Amino acid sequence: MRALTLVEYGGQLTFNDVPRPTPARDEILVKVKSTAVNHLDLVQASGTLRQILPIDLPWIPGHEFSGVVEQIGGDVAACAPGDAVFGTTTGTGAYAEYLTVKAAAIARKPSNLSFEEAASVPVASQTAWQGIFDHGHLEKGQMILIHGGAGAVGAYAVQLASYAGATVIATASGDDEAYLKSIGAGRVIDYRAAQFEKVLGEKVDVVLDLIGGDTQKRSFLVLREGGHLVSATQPVSQEETARHRVSGEMMRLAPSGDGLGRIGRLLEEGRIRPDVATVYALQDAAQAWKDIAANLPGAHGMSPNGPGAARARSHGKIVLRVA
Ligand SMILES: NC(=O)c1ccc[n+]([C@@H]2O[C@H](COP(=O)([O-])OP(=O)(O)OC[C@H]3O[C@@H](n4cnc5c(N)ncnc54)[C@H](OP(=O)(O)O)[C@@H]3O)[C@@H](O)[C@H]2O)c1
Repeated sequence: MRALTLVEYGGQLTFNDVPRPTPARDEILVKVKSTAVNHLDLVQASGTLRQILPIDLPWIPGHEFSGVVEQIGGDVAACAPGDAVFGTTTGTGAYAEYLTVKAAAIARKPSNLSFEEAASVPVASQTAWQGIFDHGHLEKGQMILIHGGAGAVGAYAVQLASYAGATVIATASGDDEAYLKSIGAGRVIDYRAAQFEKVLGEKVDVVLDLIGGDTQKRSFLVLREGGHLVSATQPVSQEETARHRVSGEMMRLAPSGDGLGRIGRLLEEGRIRPDVATVYALQDAAQAWKDIAANLPGAHGMSPNGPGAARARSHGKIVLRVA
């Protein structure tokens, strides 16, 4: 099968013929329709964090996908060949014609979503869900501040928190205010024009930090005592959490097919919606990586083009069409 592979850290992605993987008893073989680009793809490929995020070279990137079940392992009962599915990868990457994945990591594709839209969902939506509910313990009637609300993860966090009955405040570029209000934000603070801790005027129960750095540090000033600071980008200072009498942790996505299925039902009911910024053909992945590199937070040890560097559109996922 054809796959985009990386042969050395920092190298170019090139098309290669690689053996089609065979599913183990608890896996399925998926014919990939689409995949989506994540910051993590670039960070892993660069090797800057190879001590904590190692890859086996040659490497096929791609952490999420949509596609059609081609073959199932002997122990798999939950799906059958021909089913349309989406999910996060558990082994081989998704920048390829086929991949094998644990059956426990996938869910049925929502019928109202295209394969391109479905591929954009698994990583961002599950990160948002786990950040606000599992780690942030957000409840109905509480107030949450979401940093980077217009980004891929942030947009799901805004929608899910709003659907759960919380009051949602998001930081974002001013250009994204109307978009964020249309998906459930009650208030948007333009991070380019104001310091959120100076203009907020009240304390919040939960902060979801999708930015890191100074934004994370200043977040302690707006959390109520006993509140939760959850970061998806970098560790949270335990000295500061103790000093401010709050809890704080860095989360790492723990994907699950059941969790994705729950999100899939919300998408199918129209309670939340996906956001695809651009669709590229798989062979144009290098351009897609250039687009997303402009928005990489410096927290990953890579150099972004500058905070909030200009790009065509500051929300929505970049999707790669595979088949
Ligand atoms: N821990 C995990 O398991 C996990 C999983 C998924 C993602 N992540 C991480 O979560 C972070 C967010 O991912 P994403 O995919 O949502 O990113 P994204 O789609 O690139 O979105 C980033 C957003 O942040 C905005 N922004 C930039 N600087 C800001 C600031 N100082 N204050 C407020 N907003 C700002 C950008 O707006 P402008 O472009 O208008 O500036 C953009 O809308 C990344 O660091 C990613 O690696 C972690």
